Amino acid sequence: MAKNGISRRRFFADAGKFATGAALGMVILGIGSRTGIQGRAQEVPNWPWPYEALDLEEVALQGYEGYYEGKCSFGAFHAIVGALADKVGYPFNIIPTEMLYFGHGGVVGWGNYCGALNGACAAINLVTNKEGADALIKELNLWYEQTPIPLYKPSSPKVEIPDDAVSIAGSTLCHVSVTRWCNATGFKAKSKERSERCARLTAQVAQKAAELLNLYHAGAFTPEHTMPASVAECGACHGPGGPIENVKAKMDCLMCHERHP
Ligand code: HEC
Ligand code: HEC
Repeated sequence: MAKNGISRRRFFADAGKFATGAALGMVILGIGSRTGIQGRAQEVPNWPWPYEALDLEEVALQGYEGYYEGKCSFGAFHAIVGALADKVGYPFNIIPTEMLYFGHGGVVGWGNYCGALNGACAAINLVTNKEGADALIKELNLWYEQTPIPLYKPSSPKVEIPDDAVSIAGSTLCHVSVTRWCNATGFKAKSKERSERCARLTAQVAQKAAELLNLYHAGAFTPEHTMPASVAECGACHGPGGPIENVKAKMDCLMCHERHP
């Protein structure tokens, strides 16, 4: 007899392993990752899930370590969701945080959206409603574009990089962020120093995201960063409501385009 393709024997073996004492026939939803499985039927709570303030130093360290386990996107997601699993337990401990692995290198190396941001955004959106997620992620993106990275330094670094090996990405794109750092420091894109930079970046991004979440859930969040001026300037004609309206973007237009008369 098969149940979802799992043989009866296998199903009962797993049921015994995961759900000691649980009544047979119970639906087992939670296939947890490293966070430990509560062997019982799980109800999926309504979204957004309840948040509890996190220790920012701990989140940063987990982001750093997580990078070396599963790259940037997993690292940032796991730093926050794993910390919530440690603190709150269920339901955070039923999420396989490895699902964010795909975000590495701007989505499997494409150089699109920075993976650390991607992972942090998913974590933010798990514990904030639509309006909250939009507001916090907007702030996180702008902070990322404008802040020297990486400033986080682990107490025992896996790879040494000079303290002044920092750059301002000016963009949320992995490609731009990495290449500007390489140009600023002289390290190659595939070097272990660049990996270390992204590990520290992952720590810094996860920490910032947790800081924003702490503030937001304490009712104390106010945005501190502003849009690149070009978005409004060029948007007056190309953006929503403008006479041409052929652009939908909040990136700095002048990163890729010249001003035209
Ligand atoms: C006063 C209105 C206005 C503003 C402000 C404006 N544009 Fe344009 N832009 C135009 C018009 C009109 C065209 C021609 C559109 C067409 O032919 O479809 C154009 C064309 C373009 C093109 C098409 C490629 C080319 O140059 O032929 C690009 C790219 C562009 N603009 C970028 C920008 C950027 C970047 C900014 C801000 C720095 C900007 N525009 C600000 C009106 C404007
Ligand atoms: C990451 C680089 C990048 C950024 C940032 C960017 N663009 Fe573009 N944009 C492009 C590319 C690439 C195209 C496609 C050009 C083509 O097909 O010839 C394009 C196309 C355009 C076009 C149409 C050009 C044409 O030939 O008709 C306009 C207008 C434009 N962008 C305006 C903007 C504005 C306004 C912003 C800021 C909100 C912006 N872009 C931000 C890369 C960028």
